Amino acid sequence: MKFFLDTADLDEIKEAASWGALAGVTTNPTLYSRIGGKLDDFHNHIARICEIVDGPVSAESVAMTRDEIIRDGRELAKIAPNVVVKIPTMVEGLAACRALSDEGIRVNMTLCFSVPQAILAARAGARYISPFVGRFDDISEDGLSQLGDVVTAIGNYDYSESTANGEQVEIIAASIRSANHVTQSALMGADIATVPFNVLKKMVQHPLTDRGLESFLKDWEKVANA
Ligand code: G3P
Repeated sequence: MKFFLDTADLDEIKEAASWGALAGVTTNPTLYSRIGGKLDDFHNHIARICEIVDGPVSAESVAMTRDEIIRDGRELAKIAPNVVVKIPTMVEGLAACRALSDEGIRVNMTLCFSVPQAILAARAGARYISPFVGRFDDISEDGLSQLGDVVTAIGNYDYSESTANGEQVEIIAASIRSANHVTQSALMGADIATVPFNVLKKMVQHPLTDRGLESFLKDWEKVANA
């Protein structure tokens, strides 16, 4: 499994990148607004993220028609070679995904909540598909089981002919709220988990690691004082 950081915060991205396990970044309009992002600085901000991270950096279009999304997508893709255009899973989004993918522009189809949506996205040439786990749980459904169904259904077929550059579609477990979500996503075979920084920090922690470290340090003091 690969890890993306789900944030627009440059400090979090720099810190996570220094841990050595960061493969990419996903952003969305909410995450950009959370850091006080300004409309006219959006492209520059994505460029700054791309300077920190070599891997895919998802930048979302907020346009609602296919022509506008395509225009947006082309502009976003010019920012850096590793920009992935993030598009909501809706009819206009699918049409834009097909067009952008045919131009060799990578697309991450987001706000995906069902197997049929995921299959349509894969057929429309999506390079990444992002089923949301936490938000499905929020409506008293089972987000992990939905994710597992998407991983299985997409894995049953070869969609590489659908993407213009022949790459395999990858499933991003999104809307991840806990380290257990990461564990279960990995067991289900999701290719990537995109995690908020607070979850990434929890992923490193274990009480037995803390307890073990404490006792090693105490015993080492005995050695030092012997
Ligand atoms: O990548 C999508 C993710 O940012 C949504 O997370 O926690 O807002 O549902 P959340």
